[in-house]
Amino acid sequence: MKYAVVIPAAGQGKRMGAGHNKQFLMLEDRPLIIHTVSVFEKDPNCAKIIVVANPSEITDMRVLFEKWNIKKVTNVLAGGKERQDSVYEGLKVLTEDEIVLVHDGARPFIEASRLKDLVQKASETGAAVLGVRMKDTVKRAAGGLVIETIDRSSLWAVQTPQAFRLPIVLEAYRRAEEQKIVGTDDTSLVEKMGHPVHIVEGGYDNIKLTTPEDMITAIGILQKRRGE
Ligand code: CTP
Ligand code: MG
Repeated sequence: MKYAVVIPAAGQGKRMGAGHNKQFLMLEDRPLIIHTVSVFEKDPNCAKIIVVANPSEITDMRVLFEKWNIKKVTNVLAGGKERQDSVYEGLKVLTEDEIVLVHDGARPFIEASRLKDLVQKASETGAAVLGVRMKDTVKRAAGGLVIETIDRSSLWAVQTPQAFRLPIVLEAYRRAEEQKIVGTDDTSLVEKMGHPVHIVEGGYDNIKLTTPEDMITAIGILQKRRGE
């Protein structure tokens, strides 16, 4: 089934500490954002890619897409203050697409094979998110004191892409704006509407490049995929 993808890339990359937006950091031969968009460029089910960028970086992004022969990017839009604002800008330009994915520009290792199940689930149910089972034990604490240990068997670390039937996610974002709700991810806004969100099992490779250590892990993942 065909889908559109919104890729927010309008952050500052502060925790990466590179002094500029991490989307432009080189990961081996190409910038991070090119790794990410290339997955969708190659997926035959992806109909279009909407990239959301910092206003001052729109031209640089367009130049990169041209250089790397990325054809499916239909829009490079100006983002907003928070990730949620950037994603909303991207969603607003979509009208007739049935299924939309939202995927962080900073997650270059998403595998196309996972996208199929995710899109299928979103099409059946309205909202689905990729997640992996938590490996760590998680405790709730306050003031340095443990309050409880949370049963790990029920815990999932969610990732992106998060996939939706378009009218559902648009309504969730509209309500969030109206009610001034800020969610930590896209599906949380859909959950707040009372709409069920389904988890589709993803892979541990699908990391978000957030801090400098993640760049080392990223090189390892690329080497592993080449069989080195
Ligand atoms: N993002 C965005 N618009 C914002 C903030 C973030 O489009 N106002 C994007 C980032 O570019 C990234 C994704 O959302 O692809 C996930 O955000 P995060 O990993 O937090 O990236 P940054 O916000 O750039 O990093 P930091 O929080 O360390 O500054
Ligand atoms: Mg951020």
